[in-house]
Amino acid sequence: MSESNPAGATGRANILLTGGAGYLGSHTYVALWQAGFQPVILDDFSNSDPATLKRLQQITGTPTRCERGSVADTGLVAELIKLQRIQAVMHFAGFKAVGESVAQPLKYYRNNLGGMLSLLQAMGDSACQTLVFSSSATVYGDPSQLPITEDCPRSHTSPYGHTKLICEDMIAAVQQASGAWRTAVLRYFNPVGAHPSGLIGEAPLGTPNNLLPLVAQVAAGLRPALKVYGQDFATPDGTGVRDYIHVQDLAQGHVAALAALLRGQASFTVNLGTGRGHSVLEVVRAFELASGRPVPWQFAPRRSGDVASCYADPGLAEHLLGWRAERTLAQMCADTWRWQAGLLT
Ligand code: UD1
Repeated sequence: MSESNPAGATGRANILLTGGAGYLGSHTYVALWQAGFQPVILDDFSNSDPATLKRLQQITGTPTRCERGSVADTGLVAELIKLQRIQAVMHFAGFKAVGESVAQPLKYYRNNLGGMLSLLQAMGDSACQTLVFSSSATVYGDPSQLPITEDCPRSHTSPYGHTKLICEDMIAAVQQASGAWRTAVLRYFNPVGAHPSGLIGEAPLGTPNNLLPLVAQVAAGLRPALKVYGQDFATPDGTGVRDYIHVQDLAQGHVAALAALLRGQASFTVNLGTGRGHSVLEVVRAFELASGRPVPWQFAPRRSGDVASCYADPGLAEHLLGWRAERTLAQMCADTWRWQAGLLT
């Protein structure tokens, strides 16, 4: 550990964050700290930057607690849970590039399912059976209705999506086997944005796949133009519509989910989205306004597997958790731009 703080010495409940140095994990680390918890990171840094730990220390004003290692190491996870007196786990660790999962499916099944299996085993063997899991709207496949409610049929269009679906099923199975489990399955829509400090954000290795990091790189002059995939979807301007949600709102959704489980709420599955869809061209215009930079774009053929529209009905999360996303598309773009501009200096 970067700090040998005995469990409980801070008077805060210790929460383990697998993949806690990544994009969603790092923002949730801050939100947990601010809510009075003591987050403890387990990360193998296969897709995250160790420099994030120092940045978290800068934001929280306290040494970051982190163990370098893999969630697939069941013994290590079990030992951490015991020694650190972990009260709940948030499982962020996992690969998430859809295209890569199609090209290298076994890498995804091995990593995402192996990690989940190992974690459930370690938790099942210990006294810690409270789990918050990072699922995804990808489990709705091509959605059968809009807005999407949690009872919509699940399907998958990629090995990545399949791993999320199986992980959800694994959680349901252990829960059925033992009433000791308390679990929250959080289905994220499209997380974007960054911490307002500009110190942490999304730092994809190599070429990004998702819209906002690409738009930010075009605005920064690192890419000549954005390819807008598809112009004839059945949407108001013909481009794809998605439910973009600020990562800060998402992080607060995790804190609300954890708090609900710790106060005895029965296990649940909820959408974390804003309930509002924005088209690709709306995002481009909002980003130009936020950054003051032009974002040149051109139409390109549809990307394989893309659906026309996808947005949440976030009503259940509000009802169960008292949580609602509040940040606007303008804030998402402004915070993404601040982070991107910081990467250039
Ligand atoms: C993708 C994944 C989803 C994952 C989510 C968050 C697919 C099919 N789905 O969702 O499983 O949970 O990311 O990581 O990959 N777009 C462009 N030009 C670009 C990039 C994107 O026009 O260069 C458009 C897309 O066609 C889409 C929208 O922007 O309409 C959002 O794309 P993206 O950010 O990749 O997210 P999703 O495809 O919704």
